[in-house]
Amino acid sequence: MSLRYKFAIAFLCSLLVVITFATISILSVQKQNSVVQFQENRNAFFSVFLDTCKISIKSHDEEQVNLIINSMIDMRKYDIVYVFLVSGYKEVSFFSDTANNDVFLARSRFVFEVQETNYLSAVGTNIYEHSAPLMWQDKYMGSLIVGFSQDYIHKQTDKDILMLAKSISVIVVVSIIFSILCIDFIANWISEPITVLMKTLDKIIESGKYIKTKIICHDEVGKLANTFNVMIDKLQEIDSLKDDFVSNVSHELRTPLSAIDGYCNLLLESNDSKLLTAQQKKGLNIIKDATQRLTGFINNILDISKIKAGKFDVEIVSIKIEETIKELVDFFRPLATIQKKKLICKIDSDVSFVQADKEKIKQIIQNLLGNAFKFTDVGAEIKIFAKTIVVDKNNYVEISISDNGIGIDKNNLNKIFDKFYQIKEGKFNRPKGTGLGLSIVYELVKIHKGTIKAESIFGKGSVFKFTLPVSATSITN
Ligand SMILES: Nc1ncnc2c1ncn2[C@@H]1O[C@H](COP(=O)(O)OP(=O)(O)OP(=O)(O)O)[C@@H](O)[C@H]1O
Ligand SMILES: [Mg+2]
Repeated sequence: MSLRYKFAIAFLCSLLVVITFATISILSVQKQNSVVQFQENRNAFFSVFLDTCKISIKSHDEEQVNLIINSMIDMRKYDIVYVFLVSGYKEVSFFSDTANNDVFLARSRFVFEVQETNYLSAVGTNIYEHSAPLMWQDKYMGSLIVGFSQDYIHKQTDKDILMLAKSISVIVVVSIIFSILCIDFIANWISEPITVLMKTLDKIIESGKYIKTKIICHDEVGKLANTFNVMIDKLQEIDSLKDDFVSNVSHELRTPLSAIDGYCNLLLESNDSKLLTAQQKKGLNIIKDATQRLTGFINNILDISKIKAGKFDVEIVSIKIEETIKELVDFFRPLATIQKKKLICKIDSDVSFVQADKEKIKQIIQNLLGNAFKFTDVGAEIKIFAKTIVVDKNNYVEISISDNGIGIDKNNLNKIFDKFYQIKEGKFNRPKGTGLGLSIVYELVKIHKGTIKAESIFGKGSVFKFTLPVSATSITN
């Protein structure tokens, strides 16, 4: 999962936790407020009711007393369960549910002080009973007892809370949608510098070049990018020092090596047979062989560092590829005879000119044919074919070099063009080399704007095919 999504999920989870806590807090505070408000409202009603009763009883007008009391009860019919107005002059009883009036009749009594009682009635109703004496100028005139339903308060507050919860959930859904858009933007903003850094690293791995990253922020990631760029500078510096060192040392080694090789040849080709004993000749041949191998290795190292530094000079002109191939086949013919191998060459009649540097093409074919000889046994068949092919409407000459030697297994096939890569394992006794030949071939083909690929069946043989452009236009493309 990408960093951007991880940030987005983290933000969203935090937001949901905050919203949930906020909603729960709002709803519980609101519920408490509603209950308190309801109770205050009920107490206010009771005190008005009490005053009204006092005045009505004082008036001694029975009709007015009934009217006023009934209209007061009508105002709060929804939560009044019973009312008793008990006085020497008049007694009034009211029951909201007449079916259960027997249950509450016992509550009718004279009270001499204000009482607030909560109790569970015999019919299962939660009752809050408020009672007070009716006093007029210090004279006791009776009592007012009112039973309110507590269940009504809970029912009503639950209803209010449900409505509030519905409104909150609409607001929450809308704000979550907006938040997701904002979160996506923020997550992208936070993760972008890391993505840029990662892309630079991918480019470095892909191209093998030293590429600096763009610094687009000034936080910790920005500092990391800065350090990364400093590190790239240092690596580049060390690498170019190493390249200079390798190419200078290689250059210096070539001169004494060619002197050793020259003197070996001189001594070996000397006509005076008495000059050297058989033992000395054998020793000289070993020196000559080792010198040539070392020279080949140094040449490869120099080629690689030149290609890397972009200083590999190629002179691309129109060359007759048939001639170049035949020259190389003639060069390898004696080796084929010595090693008892068949060397077959077939060039199609339409193959003529290619745009290339002749010496470099020779180097490519020499490397591939060299490998074909190196990795085959006595009696093997090595073929070099050339034909014209069309790729993206451009004409190319495709040269294939195949052998029926030891082959390359699938796991190694994509690594053989890497520098210094040699297959170590396997039942075949593989000849020594530097592992640089194919990487140079790969770069040379690339310089010529061609392509190279290898196909192989382990134990059966390999084919290396590379292309060269026929016309100059394919090169500029
Ligand atoms: N025709 C082939 N058949 C089987 N294996 C091959 C063939 N060509 C190349 N390889 C494998 O690929 C590896 C890399 O080849 P490359 O030419 O780069 O190196 P090398 O031949 O070992 O050494 P160098 O060419 O530098 O002297 C070889 O070591 C070998 O294991
Ligand atoms: Mg090789």
